[in-house]
Amino acid sequence: MMSEITVDGKLTLKRGASSKILMKYMDHATEILLHKTRAACDAIMVGSRTIQIDNSFLTVRLVPGKSPLRVIPSSMADIPPDANVLGPDAPTVIAVCSRAPEEKVAMLRARGVSVVVAGEDHVDLPLLMEKLHDEFGVRRMMLEGGPTLNWHMLHHRLVDEIRLIHLPFIVGGADTPSLVGGMHIEDESQMIRLALSSHYMCGTNLVTEWRVLYSGKGGDTSGGDSGT
Ligand SMILES: NC(=O)c1ccc[n+]([C@@H]2O[C@H](COP(=O)([O-])OP(=O)(O)OC[C@H]3O[C@@H](n4cnc5c(N)ncnc54)[C@H](OP(=O)(O)O)[C@@H]3O)[C@@H](O)[C@H]2O)c1
Repeated sequence: MMSEITVDGKLTLKRGASSKILMKYMDHATEILLHKTRAACDAIMVGSRTIQIDNSFLTVRLVPGKSPLRVIPSSMADIPPDANVLGPDAPTVIAVCSRAPEEKVAMLRARGVSVVVAGEDHVDLPLLMEKLHDEFGVRRMMLEGGPTLNWHMLHHRLVDEIRLIHLPFIVGGADTPSLVGGMHIEDESQMIRLALSSHYMCGTNLVTEWRVLYSGKGGDTSGGDSGT
């Protein structure tokens, strides 16, 4: 998992705002790091809300290298027809559930993307990971948010590493999206524990890298080879 994050843990300026506004303040060296990380992965995944708000391309542009397979879970196939991820720059998988409207699925297939059905009422992320592994040869995937998808991936123990690009801002806002959304824990035993594996400056940005230590696994960074 890789995210650009403010000092107060936010991923964007306010609810509904594109993270591209914050990304403008990344050092060029860090943008290159982001693109190198994409190029080193077989797949890159973001949530459907991020596609609706940011209209990301999710391609490798700043370094030589192949763009990874773009993977967007959207239970009801709600991807805008003009979304950049439906363009020809890289292969794309839209993951839907079996209740997704047929006409929306047909529209996506007509645009040349692969539609993978995983789950009945919502996208079953562990099943999707298995299908990406078996049918698309995905061994290393980068998760680029947003907070809702980050939470569900962590909840299913599908993230094994977190890399954060720290931006020197505070934006505030009780409902401003932060790194992980949707997580309400009862007590400290449910905290997801991390171990710092690396920290360094990339241009003017601090970058930290963390291993995820899921409880009950003896410190095992589970998630196999589908997490990052
Ligand atoms: N700074 C950064 O690094 C960064 C990176 C990415 C995004 N962002 C920001 O994050 C914000 C969007 O975040 P968000 O939390 O609203 O949305 P999100 O995590 O991008 O997308 C969530 C959506 O994904 C779909 N989804 C399908 N299957 C799912 C599953 N099993 N588990 C979870 N989600 C599933 C759901 O929509 P359906 O119900 O339609 O399936 C869900 O509403 C934007 O403002 C964007 O700019 C920041």
